[in-house]
Amino acid sequence: MGFPCLFVLLILAPTVAWSQAWSQGIPRLTRGNSLAVEKENDFLVSPNGTFSSGFYKVGTNAYCYSIWFTNSVNRTVVWMANRDRPVNGKRSKLTLQRNGNLALTDKDSSVVWSTNTFTDEGVQAQLLETGNLVLVNEANTTIWKSFDSPTDTLLPSQLLTKNTTLVSMRSPGTYLSGFYNLKFDDNNILDLIFNGPLISSIYWPNSAFTVFLNGRTPYNSSRRAYVNASGLFRSSDTFKFNASDYGVGPKRRLTLDYDGILRLYSFDEPTRLWKISWLPAGLDNCTVHGLCGPNGICVNRPRQKTCICPNGFRRNDPSDWIKGCSPLFNLSCDRNELDFMELPNTDYYGYDLVTYGIGISLQECRNRCLSDCKCKGFGYSTDGQGECFPKGNLLNGHNMPGKYVSMHIKIPRGKINSSAELEMARINYLNCSAAAVVLGGDNANGEKPTKNRYMKYLISLAGSFAVIETVFISLGWWYVFRRHVHEELANLGCIVLALGFKRFTYAELKRATRNFKQEVGKGGFGSVFRGVLDDERVVAVKRLEGVLQGDAEFWAEVSIIGRINHRNLVKLQGFCAENEHKLLVYEYVENGSLDKLLFNDPGTASILQWDQRYNIAVGTAKGLSYLHEECLEWVLHCDVKPQNILLDDQFEPKVADFGLSKLFKERHDTKFSRVRGTRGYLAPEWMMNLKIDAKADVYSYGIVLLELLTGKSASDYLSASVSDSSYCNHLVQWVAKQMEQEGLEKIIDPRLNDVYDREKLDRMVKVALLCVAENRDTRPPMSKVVKLLTAHDHESSQDESISD
Ligand SMILES: *[C@@H]1O[C@H](CO)[C@@H](O)[C@H](O)[C@H]1NC(C)=O
Ligand SMILES: *[C@@H]1O[C@H](CO)[C@@H](O)[C@H](O)[C@H]1NC(C)=O
Ligand SMILES: *[C@@H]1O[C@H](CO)[C@@H](O)[C@H](O)[C@H]1NC(C)=O
Ligand SMILES: *[C@@H]1O[C@H](CO)[C@@H](O)[C@H](O)[C@H]1NC(C)=O
Ligand SMILES: *[C@@H]1O[C@H](CO)[C@@H](O)[C@H](O)[C@H]1NC(C)=O
Ligand SMILES: *[C@@H]1O[C@H](CO)[C@@H](O)[C@H](O)[C@H]1NC(C)=O
Ligand SMILES: *[C@@H]1O[C@H](CO)[C@@H](O)[C@H](O)[C@H]1NC(C)=O
Ligand SMILES: *[C@@H]1O[C@H](CO)[C@@H](O)[C@H](O)[C@H]1NC(C)=O
Ligand SMILES: *[C@@H]1O[C@H](CO)[C@@H](O)[C@H](O)[C@H]1NC(C)=O
Ligand SMILES: *[C@@H]1O[C@H](CO)[C@@H](O)[C@H](O)[C@H]1NC(C)=O
Ligand SMILES: *[C@@H]1O[C@H](CO)[C@@H](O)[C@H](O)[C@H]1NC(C)=O
Repeated sequence: MGFPCLFVLLILAPTVAWSQAWSQGIPRLTRGNSLAVEKENDFLVSPNGTFSSGFYKVGTNAYCYSIWFTNSVNRTVVWMANRDRPVNGKRSKLTLQRNGNLALTDKDSSVVWSTNTFTDEGVQAQLLETGNLVLVNEANTTIWKSFDSPTDTLLPSQLLTKNTTLVSMRSPGTYLSGFYNLKFDDNNILDLIFNGPLISSIYWPNSAFTVFLNGRTPYNSSRRAYVNASGLFRSSDTFKFNASDYGVGPKRRLTLDYDGILRLYSFDEPTRLWKISWLPAGLDNCTVHGLCGPNGICVNRPRQKTCICPNGFRRNDPSDWIKGCSPLFNLSCDRNELDFMELPNTDYYGYDLVTYGIGISLQECRNRCLSDCKCKGFGYSTDGQGECFPKGNLLNGHNMPGKYVSMHIKIPRGKINSSAELEMARINYLNCSAAAVVLGGDNANGEKPTKNRYMKYLISLAGSFAVIETVFISLGWWYVFRRHVHEELANLGCIVLALGFKRFTYAELKRATRNFKQEVGKGGFGSVFRGVLDDERVVAVKRLEGVLQGDAEFWAEVSIIGRINHRNLVKLQGFCAENEHKLLVYEYVENGSLDKLLFNDPGTASILQWDQRYNIAVGTAKGLSYLHEECLEWVLHCDVKPQNILLDDQFEPKVADFGLSKLFKERHDTKFSRVRGTRGYLAPEWMMNLKIDAKADVYSYGIVLLELLTGKSASDYLSASVSDSSYCNHLVQWVAKQMEQEGLEKIIDPRLNDVYDREKLDRMVKVALLCVAENRDTRPPMSKVVKLLTAHDHESSQDESISD
């Protein structure tokens, strides 16, 4: 008995020692060596261990190369190399190349970030005790340092210069670049700026005061600021402050937080938590600009800020206040049709139409606004000074008790309830608990929702689709790709090289499609035409219509799709962008989409045979699995359905339209989500305002699998069975009922004439029902689906999916 134990110990002992040695990180990276994302112990540490630098997980399979504070309860990230372009959790590397360049490469070896330092000398990368990641050469001179390119944090001894800007994170836990900046402006003043997609404005120091009243000077153009180890902050515009715990001792950091407020934090060793040791005076939540978006109003409620829309306005995006509110009315220019709605203690900052006026009567101020069609409303002082502020835009709204300005918003006469009461904005997403009851199946209290309720629900769902669709400016994408896109727009030649596909001219594609003659499909984002290129390649040209209005979104799509390559995904071969013409060129897939073959009239064309159906199921699962797990984790399809599964001449499936899937962040608190997809294939969570993840695609895939087996279309089935009193997905219900009452054989498509493999059928049904589970936690991930489907299938399970 003793022998095996001893044996185990002997084996374990060196392993433990080894891993302990390595879990402490490494002191330096030398030429030709790499840190690999998969290796937990591949990270650099500073000499005393205060800071560490390695791959930091920002999503299920997404990493950013970062520097973090080692000892805090949770890692506190102080710097990131690639905050807006995370890399894959597999095969990504940080390499100190032989030529002296420190480069971060993604799974596909594409360079995502680099220091652009080239030298023949023996360089090495070190993390200094200050938190500065440096490249030093043999002569011990620094040739590059992370301190020159801060993200949202300034560390003691790090200089903020005319070249550097702190940029906040987008939201808590989301490391993407946000909208708040700390930098020196052209007048040499250190400012906090809201730098939003539509507007930008300075909110600190208070721009209602002169520079000097704010205690600054514009005369020193050296533009330098720093905080030293004692907690003393100094800026060349004479702004300075001390930490409340002034003195050498605690570690400190100055961070521009996601809420636009700059805070100095001190580290408390006993609790391992950060404490605020300074923040700017007079800067509370509602004086930060941009928080509630256009027309939105920030209200300081005890303990937290709240955004609201004024009456007659509707919130644009239930998950993102920065998009603000839109009026539900159009304003005429006829003053007889106009009225005002008064909001006491409220003002919108900036965008005054005329220069500041004083001693003006309310009537006069009102008239000024009425007679100017551009005027959206006016602020009027209530302290007897007669100050009048007609506004061309309603931005940076805030409401505070004691504010001496009343806002008068221009509205159509008699249309809007002009009650002075500020009503909480009605949030236009579905009430979660109501949706959950409708979709929750046989609920415990036995209340069966009626058909009417279901229809009502569907109608409101369709309504919310429309609303959400119309406000679709996919900011989520935009943020991620903003920097990236700018580079690309600046250099079109480079994009072609970088992405390895061709840029076509509009004339070329017009010729190829014979002036868009043969339409082969129509999707949510535009029509698809068959074309023959000059080199005789047959292609599918997708002409994007309407929805992708901005170049940014278009480039975002191109960037994603161009990097995705798998045999079960339709390959993007090129694109065209000329003024309003935005086209994508895909490989042409011979046999068209699955719905045409699966749901065709009996007898008209060939019927998909059993083996073909099984191959389509497996191939589609592989394609989706690649999208979810091999690419960065947020590439969701969001619209899996037979219309988007194309079949090549061998009936090998290729998933189409995936580039239009939105980018997705894992965090609970950032919902970039908007409802996408098609009725009949939508997972319940879409209606419940839950975070959407890969499991929504798994659900839709499960429906497709049921369709493959039964030959019945989920969408037909939905509308065909209105008389049915069931309320969940009808196809799922039907299959479950058939299985229960009649057995497995009864669900199979009769057109197969009983020619099928019983064992595979069994497997497919099981997988399908797992996939359409109401509770997404019980749905398997797509990689598991592939494994389950091919479990006893030696040919298929050894068939490695092709990537890169
Ligand atoms: C690192 O640790 C040593 C020994 O504890 C100490 O003397 C030294 O000051 C520390 N260096 C820094 C930069 O904290
Ligand atoms: C640390 O992270 C955990 C899990 O994300 C979270 O629950 C906890 O609140 C965090 N603690 C601090 C101090 O931020
Ligand atoms: C390199 O320079 C740093 C400071 O710049 C110093 O602390 C360190 O001791 C030097 N190392 C060598 C090997 O000279
Ligand atoms: C700022 O950038 C310019 C050009 O990129 C460079 O010459 C200059 O030295 C930089 N200034 C500082 C303070 O880093
Ligand atoms: C920070 O600056 C103040 C004022 O110049 C100085 O008295 C203090 O010694 C500095 N602290 C450190 C650690 O250099
Ligand atoms: C300008 O600021 C720098 C610090 O950034 C300081 O060293 C210099 O003396 C200042 N110049 C004047 C003229 O005040
Ligand atoms: C900060 O503290 C130092 C040392 O105690 C003191 O000389 C200085 O006046 C203080 N500065 C401010 C802005 O409070
Ligand atoms: C600002 O918001 C934070 C949390 O979001 C809260 O802790 C703080 O008290 C607020 N400040 C004010 C002045 O309302
Ligand atoms: C406002 O005008 C636009 C176009 O002129 C129109 O499409 C829209 O329906 C109008 N909205 C309302 C609420 O009348
Ligand atoms: C206007 O608001 C008041 C109070 O909020 C309410 O009683 C009244 O019914 C509203 N009128 C309309 C037309 O919405
Ligand atoms: C949502 O619906 C439930 C049940 O219908 C109701 O109790 C709850 O008050 C509603 N919540 C909101 C915010 O309307």
